[in-house]
Amino acid sequence: MQIRAVVRGVGHYLPERIVPNSEFEETLDTSDEWIKARSGIERRHFAAEGETTSDLAVAAANAALKDAGLSADDMDAIIVATSTADLTFPSVATMVQAGLNMQRGFAYDVQAVCAGFIFALSSANAQILSGQAKRIMVIGAETFSRLMDWSDRSTCVLFGDGAGALILEAQEASGSTADRGILSVDLNSDGRHRDILYVDGGVSTHTTGHLRMQGKEVFRHAVEKLAITAQAAMDQAGVTADDIDWVVPHQANLRIIKGTAKKMGISTERVVITVQDHGNTSAASIPLALSVAKANGQLKENHLVVTEAIGGGLAWGAIVLRW
Ligand code: UT7
Repeated sequence: MQIRAVVRGVGHYLPERIVPNSEFEETLDTSDEWIKARSGIERRHFAAEGETTSDLAVAAANAALKDAGLSADDMDAIIVATSTADLTFPSVATMVQAGLNMQRGFAYDVQAVCAGFIFALSSANAQILSGQAKRIMVIGAETFSRLMDWSDRSTCVLFGDGAGALILEAQEASGSTADRGILSVDLNSDGRHRDILYVDGGVSTHTTGHLRMQGKEVFRHAVEKLAITAQAAMDQAGVTADDIDWVVPHQANLRIIKGTAKKMGISTERVVITVQDHGNTSAASIPLALSVAKANGQLKENHLVVTEAIGGGLAWGAIVLRW
């Protein structure tokens, strides 16, 4: 017998305002055709003025609690993956705790940019396996629209806002690959690549800053590193590409998603793709994709999932879990 961190509920929230590619044609030298062809993105959601990351996170958390049939005080902890906190401190997670009127447990943020949800899931899994917590709400929530340089066509058309939440619960399991829950985790980072994807501001430099990216360089690292980390997670879990029901990748670029799946030897029909509707929502993209895939009937109980992401740092990783 062993303990596994099993998914008990999932939910998401997207801001009301949907921005189609065509809207950027009014202010930038760009086109719907270019954005679609190079990234696969067709539209994205932008948070309203005054709507913050914690607002999106609370809405996603409530959707996940509803899905699980649980209340906030049934949680032992909340972990939020975000790079776009409402305030420098306190953490978004403690704001969510207050927003849910949760009066017990602990809450904290994790910052690993677009790979943040993988790192947050890994932390939650470790805390559940160690017995430190029995139920953890893991949220990815972002308002990347706040970091855009609206005059930079090579970045501002790619990102969107949103939030997704997953509830993990300790359950006894057999210790085999047939178990539901997280089966393996592979995490990596390499700080030498900070200049290809970063925000040129922060608290200790007195500014908020804007996102800067050398897209081609990031693209090259992504296709190479994502397939390797996914394979490492599958090896560690003791499963092969043939066993996988769904790849749930970070949604940054359709060409990266397809290229990675091809390298993994998995057909595109077994890949959850939401980038066309959400753009790149950084740490929110994976829980958003999981929630959408469950809602539309793709993802079912006992399906074997590999999820992978890469982002600023660089930081990247993959997780194998049985839904
Ligand atoms: O979530 C974190 C991870 N992030 C990513 O994974 C993003 C990785 N990178 C990418 O997704 C792609 O590199 C982009 C979508 C950002 C760019 O696609 P690309 O095929 O690498 O294009 P490029 O950067 O090489 O640009 C090709 C051309 C350039 O013009 P020249 O120099 O060839 O004349 C760009 O100036 O396209 C131009 N361009 C645009 N044209 C119209 C760049 N942005 C735009 C635009 N509209 N929005």
